[in-house]
Amino acid sequence: MEPTTIRWGILATGSIAETFTKDLLVDPNTRNITTIKHTVVAAASSSGVSRAQEFLTRVSAPSSATAYGTYPDLARDLTVDIIYIATPHSHHYQNVKLCLEAGKNVLCEKAFTVNASQAKELVQLARAKNLFLMEALWTRYFPLSVYVRECIMTGRLGTIQRAVADNSLDLRPEESFGRDHRMVSPDLAGGVLLDMGIYSLTWIFQTLYTTQLPEERVSPRVASSVQKYAPTGVDETAIVLLTFPRDVERGGDMHGIATTSFRVANDIDGKGTSGPAIRIQGTKGEMQVWPPIFRPTRTRLILADGTVEDRTWTQPGPGRGSNWYNGYSLAGRNAEGEGYGMFWEADEAAMALVEGRKEGRYQGLDESVCIMQVMDEVRRQNDLVYPRDIEAVDGTSFNNGYI
Ligand SMILES: NC(=O)c1ccc[n+]([C@@H]2O[C@H](COP(=O)([O-])OP(=O)(O)OC[C@H]3O[C@@H](n4cnc5c(N)ncnc54)[C@H](OP(=O)(O)O)[C@@H]3O)[C@@H](O)[C@H]2O)c1
Repeated sequence: MEPTTIRWGILATGSIAETFTKDLLVDPNTRNITTIKHTVVAAASSSGVSRAQEFLTRVSAPSSATAYGTYPDLARDLTVDIIYIATPHSHHYQNVKLCLEAGKNVLCEKAFTVNASQAKELVQLARAKNLFLMEALWTRYFPLSVYVRECIMTGRLGTIQRAVADNSLDLRPEESFGRDHRMVSPDLAGGVLLDMGIYSLTWIFQTLYTTQLPEERVSPRVASSVQKYAPTGVDETAIVLLTFPRDVERGGDMHGIATTSFRVANDIDGKGTSGPAIRIQGTKGEMQVWPPIFRPTRTRLILADGTVEDRTWTQPGPGRGSNWYNGYSLAGRNAEGEGYGMFWEADEAAMALVEGRKEGRYQGLDESVCIMQVMDEVRRQNDLVYPRDIEAVDGTSFNNGYI
């Protein structure tokens, strides 16, 4: 059967939009996927048409793709099946809303929104309009993540008791970021929790929560501590202790510890010498995952019966000799022909459209809301407040010229 081509629109043209779009245009056959193909039919930049056109050229989009100088123009484009949103998280709520109201399916970068109220409203809107909506938590769709969850769900680790996950990078914030940078600016919902801590929470959730039967999933209790970044008052380090209630017959409560920091590194030499950054422990053994936990490529399963299963998970792509490169920021360029790993989530979104599903398979919308609620609670406990404009849910008070 001929593959169905999914026509993507790209909203915003910053760093991750470029990485995502390059991966998107890698042939799905390199991942043994034959039912869908991706194409880019349009991109929009709030900084003008020429920036959108430069973006399309840089990512090698088809020459027929349209460049737009505003986001609403993209949302109105009738040739677009789904829009990928890659603005700072401060703007996700208004950008997703714009696209859903225009009748578009949406894949939206993490963190999904600034707070749970915004997330809930978007979920309601998507459901009311029968549109696909998914948080672009790409790591969940890696084959490595599928394997880890399967090891848990098939009982290889026994009864799961706890998990720890750390996403920490020594980013030298005073040297790397001006006060207006999205990582540290309160106006752009900066801070480590929403940007990097979301991955630690993702690993705790996908191992302790997603792996439970849907009817047995219960929101966790939250205890936390945060260190603030003095120049702007956002969070630079966060420690979150989650207690997931579970019946005594099924093993009792589970604990997750999610940590994150942009002040210290969990992989000091970048070669894994510091050891795993994730440990998931059950009564029969444990699973370890090496950093970076947003793009992990190495696991170790250790069982009490003496089994040790080491695996590496390289990213597919066009391969050596292709003269094709992708990569992001600190991680730099990947080896020639090796993808970054963002195509897995794009494949999932495309397959959902073909199958008529309205949510991602490995992170439903209720779970995205639940994680936003956890982050709300951490912020409440530690007096982390964003400007009222970007916490808004009516969408009217924070149009700062970008929509
Ligand atoms: N999945 C991942 O691995 C990953 C990695 C990094 C970031 N992210 C997420 O992706 C989002 C964007 O991150 P990024 O690193 O790509 O940021 P970035 O390089 O700063 O790009 C953000 C883009 O958003 C647009 N934008 C709209 N309103 C803006 C405003 N008020 N201030 C700044 N930019 C504005 C701009 O594009 P135009 O001028 O074209 O409109 C800008 O280039 C964030 O939510 C982040 O958490 C995900």
